[in-house]
Amino acid sequence: MKPILLIDTDPGVDDALALLMAYERAEVAALTIAAGNVGLGHTVTNALRLTELVAAGTPVFAGCAEPLVLPAADAAFVHGADGFGDAGLPLPQRPAEAEHAALALIRLTREHPGRLTLVALGPLTNLALALRLDPTLPQRVARLVVMGGAVTGRGNTSVPAEFNIGFDPEAAHIVFSSWPQFELVDWEATMRHGIPLDRFEAWLAAGDARAKLYDAISRKIRVFMRERGRPGIVLADALAMAVVLEPGCVRRAEHRHVAIELAGALTRGATVVDWDGRSGKPPNARIVLELDQSRFEAMIAAALGAA
Ligand code: BDR
Ligand code: CA
Repeated sequence: MKPILLIDTDPGVDDALALLMAYERAEVAALTIAAGNVGLGHTVTNALRLTELVAAGTPVFAGCAEPLVLPAADAAFVHGADGFGDAGLPLPQRPAEAEHAALALIRLTREHPGRLTLVALGPLTNLALALRLDPTLPQRVARLVVMGGAVTGRGNTSVPAEFNIGFDPEAAHIVFSSWPQFELVDWEATMRHGIPLDRFEAWLAAGDARAKLYDAISRKIRVFMRERGRPGIVLADALAMAVVLEPGCVRRAEHRHVAIELAGALTRGATVVDWDGRSGKPPNARIVLELDQSRFEAMIAAALGAA
């Protein structure tokens, strides 16, 4: 049976690929939209564009435009000013729903208790707000998979912080301290699962409409990856979605307690992992450390219509 997904996302170039993977293999109940990679207006527009590309009428719910407490810088320098590589795509035909994303998360999990997999691909602002409004939310969710963090302190925004957590550390703190058990796919795992650019670009050239769109929106990011000397193209949200769609592709994972640093002068937004059980706190996260690379790549190729 296909999993039913509720995806909280801030599209975003790698979010877009994760969404294409989801539409290929799962049922998508709704998209709830966060601010993050770029402002909320752009992330909502991009989510709607994506649903139109795959001809899905998935409801799209706009969430919070700001982090819970402090303002944060976006990642437009990676994803483009519009979040989709400034590819000049047409505007979507339909609008987002009127309901707020946090309220939609609460309502949809009430309507389908125990059936939905929640996938968080952006800052955790909407999910934290939903949790504060309804602390029983985790009881109704089958699985929560979060893309975020840098589990040994090798971040991508500050030295130790990863973008999704660093953008809204208070929201991450609320989720990590109140969700009993979730799966975490972090930036460091992402860096171990780069895809050689020539292989990735061959999939983009295969001619499917999804590949054509992805070719356009990922052009800037591929230049960025080449300039940074990254190990091919690294696709954080796509890696998390692979774990969602094929749990059996995980090769190595560890259960540990993970907390969020809120106050550090150098470490705000860091994911502090209790690797050696010093805190005495029970593990709240299953940290995914390694996936089957060939399965991961096969899922991406299929999502781009190149398999
Ligand atoms: C995460 O930050 C965003 O820029 C990406 O979309 C991904 O969700 C990686 O750190
Ligand atoms: Ca994202």
